[in-house]
Amino acid sequence: MTIQEKVPLAPLTTLQVGGEARYFAEIKREDELREAVSFATSRDLPLFILGGGSNLVIADSGWPGLVLRIAIGGITTPELSAATPNDAKSTAVLFSVGAGVNWDDFVAQTVVQNGAGVECLSGIPGSVGGTPVQNVGAYGQEVSDTIESVRAFDLQQDRVAILPKPACGFRYRSSIFNSTERGRYIILRVNYRLKRGGAPNLKYADLQSHFATQRAEKKTPSLSETRDAVRAIRCSKGMLIIPGDEDCRSAGSFFKNPVLSEEQFKELSDRAAAQGLSIPSYPALDAQHKISAAWLVEHSGFSKGYVAGAAGISKKHALAIINRGDATASDIVALKKEIQDQVKARWEILLEPEPVFVGF
Ligand code: EPU
Repeated sequence: MTIQEKVPLAPLTTLQVGGEARYFAEIKREDELREAVSFATSRDLPLFILGGGSNLVIADSGWPGLVLRIAIGGITTPELSAATPNDAKSTAVLFSVGAGVNWDDFVAQTVVQNGAGVECLSGIPGSVGGTPVQNVGAYGQEVSDTIESVRAFDLQQDRVAILPKPACGFRYRSSIFNSTERGRYIILRVNYRLKRGGAPNLKYADLQSHFATQRAEKKTPSLSETRDAVRAIRCSKGMLIIPGDEDCRSAGSFFKNPVLSEEQFKELSDRAAAQGLSIPSYPALDAQHKISAAWLVEHSGFSKGYVAGAAGISKKHALAIINRGDATASDIVALKKEIQDQVKARWEILLEPEPVFVGF
């Protein structure tokens, strides 16, 4: 393992902003990770773990310590244990996937192997190791629906740990890895349990309308047709990375969809109704309502294609802040603040950013 110095981080992220890493190493094996961790510990350097770089805003000042880019590969399909009943064996397919594997390459393989459960998560940029951290979700699926366990290096205990799903504390865009135990674990592999020959999940409205004709003819689309549909829908929203397209130079959704209590939701709906508007919402857990952050942005004086110097809002989706070419992290953060302030002033809701801010 080589430790490099002064490595530019912007090209390693989809938003393409930010400064350099003081030290940088690429980790392909678990023993290299131990070596790198002791390099950082012995010099008292802060560690930052980089995966696919698709959900990050790196500060212009970069990272003062060691950045580890996790490049642990391999997709294996372990046998189910002898204790597993035969009927469960015939319906389950397990995948053990290295944290550095490109997420969408993994999804492509699950579809070919006829495993259902992640097809709606097609086309999401980034690597497998990042998916449990923010419990990645789209089009009616979240990785927590299929994650069986996570293998991680525990920096606190200095050993490898296996965290079964209940220990991961999954919620909407959240887990212990980005909340209560933030900074403690480095994810090495993720184990998924998919359903062999299962039907695709077509609950989400965009998918329902995409497959309207098939549905009318009572035909069920295959997993691979569902994968293609999700990629096409993401592409139409600028949420599929197409090199050179400035609308894709983003960190995906920049804000979380606010989750409101019944009372807060009623207050907001009343405020919208007074202006002749109706806010899109979806039922969430425990009598809560998840409301559309994109809608709030568009009803607070911003529109798709909004320009703020070198930063802007995607022409295809109001929730994606983009780097129009040579934006700095400060340009991105200034636009984030402008949006938060306007939404707060108009709707009394503070939009919470979704990406991880590094080095601020
Ligand atoms: N909408 C607008 N303007 C827009 C886009 C959407 O007003 O520019 C409104 C519409 O009413 C639309 C609703 O918002 O029906 C929902 O939009 P969309 O289906 O695009 O989903 P989203 O809620 O904006 C979430 C995730 C995405 C995920 C999609 C699809 C969050 C913060 N975002 O976006 O995840 O791909 O659903 O499931 O939960 C990400 O996290 O980075 C991400 C891209």
